Amino acid sequence: MTSERPVGTEAAQASEQNLVWVPKAAAIAREGGARLREFLAQGVETEYKGDVDLVTIADRTVERLIRTRLGEAFPDHGIYGEEGTRDRMEGEFRWYVDPLDGTTNFAHGFPHFCVSMGLEQRPAGLKPEEDGTLVAGVIYDPMRDELFTAERGKGAWLNGKRLHVSRIAELAESLLSTGFPSRKRHASPNVHFYQEFTLRSHGVRRAGSAALDLAYVAAGRLETFWEFNLNPWDTAAGILLVKEAGGSVTDFSGNPVRLDSREVLASNGLIHAELVRLFGDLFAGRDLAPIPTPQEFAAHRAARARQQ
Ligand code: IPD
Ligand code: CA
Ligand code: CA
Repeated sequence: MTSERPVGTEAAQASEQNLVWVPKAAAIAREGGARLREFLAQGVETEYKGDVDLVTIADRTVERLIRTRLGEAFPDHGIYGEEGTRDRMEGEFRWYVDPLDGTTNFAHGFPHFCVSMGLEQRPAGLKPEEDGTLVAGVIYDPMRDELFTAERGKGAWLNGKRLHVSRIAELAESLLSTGFPSRKRHASPNVHFYQEFTLRSHGVRRAGSAALDLAYVAAGRLETFWEFNLNPWDTAAGILLVKEAGGSVTDFSGNPVRLDSREVLASNGLIHAELVRLFGDLFAGRDLAPIPTPQEFAAHRAARARQQ
């Protein structure tokens, strides 16, 4: 599968742009992704971390592999991994690693999951609860051989081609995505948001990998992604990708997003204000604008077409 990837464009991009971290991180993500493909082909046992929170030998093995490889490539960088790695947490650089984002998909043989690695730079003197700056991100989908990469100030890329968020400017014409937590899911209000956003857009996908959802916003395949209660290993790489592709990432009130934020709202930027307004109305229990009838939708589209 990997033999057909456009190595030339990626290599050219790396040297043209003087990429610092992405080339080595991308090779590590590809190696991790290849292991995930092998595990998927051979089949793995599933264990439960919580009532529906799954983990497999693939999650643990690939985290060990990434930990070893990152340690070789960047010996003084820290690593914070979903499966328990906490290495060199005092250093200036810290990788947030999700060795397998989309474990539930993986465990069921649903071929949509990835490796996600985001790099934060933390200047000396920063308090533990303060965020540094996201400087690099790599998300690799081993089933489609899609490698999403970004370095701060150098754009977002897919297999060496520049990415840009979509230009759709209305929620009603947008394709959205979200996810639901596997811990305490009975306490999550998200199904209410899911319903409202579904009825006010082209639909809401729930594909099962937050990192790929964010990468797809960066790639212009989705206009929005939101989720409650994610962790930095789910979001670090994807937040940088969306920003570098020209999009916006905030909390649901439009405030700057933090790595330990309990809310993530990413969009192409053009529909961000509309989304924040709708979140505000939903949280406050205010009356929402009625959902247009099919005739009203058609009339709105026709009016807009006349303006263009
Ligand atoms: C999960 C996925 C899923 C999201 C969950 C995450 P995992 O990560 O990103 O899309 O809805 O909240 O926990 O457990 O597969 O690494
Ligand atoms: Ca995850
Ligand atoms: Ca995971």
